[in-house]
Amino acid sequence: MARELDSLHEQSQFRSLTIPAGVNLCSNDYLGLAADPRLKQAVIEAVSRVSAVGSTGSRLLSGNSAEWEQAESAFAEFAGTEAALYFGSGYAANVGLLGCLLKRGDIVFSDSLNHASLVDGMRLSGATKVVCPHCDLQFLERALREHAGTNGSKMIVTESVFSAEGDVAPIDGLLRLAKEFGAALVVDEAHATGVCGPHGRGIAAEHNFQRELLAVVHTCGKALASSGAFVCGGSTLKTYLVNRARTFIFSTAMPPYLAGQIRAATALARESNSQRAHLQEISASLREMLAARGFNCGASTTHIVPVMLGTNELALKVASELQRNGFAVKAIRPPTVPVGTARIRLSLTSRITHQEICGLVAAIDEACASVPRIPSASTVHA
Ligand SMILES: Cc1ncc(COP(=O)(O)O)c(C=O)c1O
Repeated sequence: MARELDSLHEQSQFRSLTIPAGVNLCSNDYLGLAADPRLKQAVIEAVSRVSAVGSTGSRLLSGNSAEWEQAESAFAEFAGTEAALYFGSGYAANVGLLGCLLKRGDIVFSDSLNHASLVDGMRLSGATKVVCPHCDLQFLERALREHAGTNGSKMIVTESVFSAEGDVAPIDGLLRLAKEFGAALVVDEAHATGVCGPHGRGIAAEHNFQRELLAVVHTCGKALASSGAFVCGGSTLKTYLVNRARTFIFSTAMPPYLAGQIRAATALARESNSQRAHLQEISASLREMLAARGFNCGASTTHIVPVMLGTNELALKVASELQRNGFAVKAIRPPTVPVGTARIRLSLTSRITHQEICGLVAAIDEACASVPRIPSASTVHA
């Protein structure tokens, strides 16, 4: 362990736990609901409504409750799908979903920037994985064509808003290819839930595609300021997961009051149009101000704005300088992103003001005074 930790230090790959301080730019609380007094009150009421604060077992044993069943029906209505099944985390949802839907002999086409939870689910399944360059529809089409004659099911897996890059997957193109080649499409909306689409219902809902996908994953730990995730899809999918998803079956259910928190957070998110508009506005200003100073923000079009820096050392140095200046910013390094594209990632929330954005840009400019800028085209959809 010590040798491996030393080697992480040598490669500027060492990670440690810190408590964020200052303007928080590494938070997924996109709508600012985590500290919203209305949500806190809803939690208090949910706790006082339930007869027990522990779930007492797996959902298939003693852990099922009316609260979770109602939360799933309400969320399916929000997501625009026939059914939804709740998992204790987004990680568990993706691992459980892909781990049981795919099997050895199947082929899964995965975007190169997909989240580790999707990657781990695919690995666990034993399916053959084809990693597609980020958002490259031409590559995907060639790969699907190449594997068209093979046995086994085909599946395309993508995030909708990519956490590493802040760009949006070409869902319409992915769905067109999925239909043409008889593949299923699974979309992880973790960073879009509550933020994108009509009333925050996600990118798939923006296109009204949600019922054409095999599964849409909405997480509750980010804009919904709660925890867990819903896998949304048809009722057969839900029944299949209840019978086959190991992270659902072999895990204690979350406490029933959390179902109340999630329902209240979803209702608040639905009505948060002004927060969504503010988030879009400050994100666009941030990108514009950074671009005007020669920074490369990759392909970001959303509330997640990377600033490409290249090496791990540089990303760490800039992040720590910004932290010293009162901005909680994290360096994102390989393996989360491809080697050579280490960056700082700015995750905006609706609580951040225009003034704070201006202060942040000035601080980034100062921290990078002697840093050569990376031309934009070199990392966009590399
Ligand atoms: C795209 C994506 N999917 C899934 C997850 C996992 O969700 P959770 O944090 O609820 O485990 C994350 C978390 O960061 C994520 O970014």
